[in-house]
Amino acid sequence: MAVSKEHILAALEGVPSPKGVPLPSTGVLSDVVASDGKIFFSITVDAAEVKDWEPVRKRAEEVVRALPGVQSALVALTAERKAGAASARPPQGARGTPVRGAPRGESLQGVPGVAAIIAVASGKGGVGKSTTAVNLALGLSALGLKVGILDADIYGPSLPKLLAIRERPQTLGGTRLKPITRYGLTVMSIGFLIDEETAMIWRGPMVISALTQMLREVEWGTLDVMVVDMPPGTGDAQLTMAQQVPLKGAVIVSTPQDLALIDARRGVSMFKRVNVPVLGIVENMSYFLCPRCGTRSDIFGHGGARHEAERLAVPFLGEVPLDMAIREKSDAGLPVVATEPDGPHARIYREIAAKVRDQISGAARAAPKIVIEA
Ligand SMILES: Nc1ncnc2c1ncn2[C@@H]1O[C@H](COP(=O)(O)OP(=O)(O)OP(=O)(O)O)[C@@H](O)[C@H]1O
Ligand SMILES: [Mg+2]
Repeated sequence: MAVSKEHILAALEGVPSPKGVPLPSTGVLSDVVASDGKIFFSITVDAAEVKDWEPVRKRAEEVVRALPGVQSALVALTAERKAGAASARPPQGARGTPVRGAPRGESLQGVPGVAAIIAVASGKGGVGKSTTAVNLALGLSALGLKVGILDADIYGPSLPKLLAIRERPQTLGGTRLKPITRYGLTVMSIGFLIDEETAMIWRGPMVISALTQMLREVEWGTLDVMVVDMPPGTGDAQLTMAQQVPLKGAVIVSTPQDLALIDARRGVSMFKRVNVPVLGIVENMSYFLCPRCGTRSDIFGHGGARHEAERLAVPFLGEVPLDMAIREKSDAGLPVVATEPDGPHARIYREIAAKVRDQISGAARAAPKIVIEA
């Protein structure tokens, strides 16, 4: 029998706040989302009280998980910064609104055991960011690195599909999650825990705390690189994410069309604003190679991203063709770098991966360039 919201709230009556008040009466609970035995809600408290509330969050999660009919429960703790409480002026959002959360560098801790975290981002959706993230991660792995991949596209998680992962992560010792291993990658996605419809109704603060939990409460183990598949766009939500994740650098994916390039430019400037180095731009769906006659067509006017990278003084990482094999393999959970390692596409992704690796290891740092902002 499906568990109802009322059942959950009744169970939470037995969970006291730090001051001893039953949780449902404290006014800190978000709406409880119960879908198909998967439960999600958040607790929003003052930033200064987060430490006191963490045991309450854990307890709430345990209590809900123990209810009959519950398959999984995710309780997120969200810190609300009090007006005027910020010690430094927080960065401004796209429309001049302050972005909630700590300014970068002040309280951003790394993830223990993870040497470098890099974001794969795009200014606009559907340009092949997730496909690139997966194949880049596999390319880095093929170069001998220990690689993890985190799906931070919380509204539209892709990794369950792109890596054909159906199983749910196990819980270790009550709260920590064991990531899934696929093709040698350590993988975590919110899509492993909740349904896509549930994700759609999340609000900003919930998303951030779910992301923080995926970084901190997952047993990532020792990794040379963690690749983060970011949600598309350059709005406040993406900016906040870029601030919340301790990023070593960002890879921007774009298609060659003018419109996509304008968005890619926004992506580059977003990361620059939060002081995350841009590792470079990948041109995806760059050209079309006819599988029958081998003729190459530059359907979208290929090369735009290379010019854009030059203009923005960021490295150009490579061109990935528009190819049916990439689409079919990707959407079937059989990414080309893993399943056709000797093919031409795998080679392209490995070359991109090598450039990324060199940059994050500092081995081949490009000579400083003068940045010309348009
Ligand atoms: N180089 C390519 N050649 C052919 N198809 C591609 C290529 N790259 C991506 N695709 C296909 O394009 C579609 C969108 O790709 P993907 O999901 O990676 O994009 P995305 O930018 O992550 O999208 P979203 O914004 O929805 O997260 C998928 O069907 C994918 O298989
Ligand atoms: Mg995606």
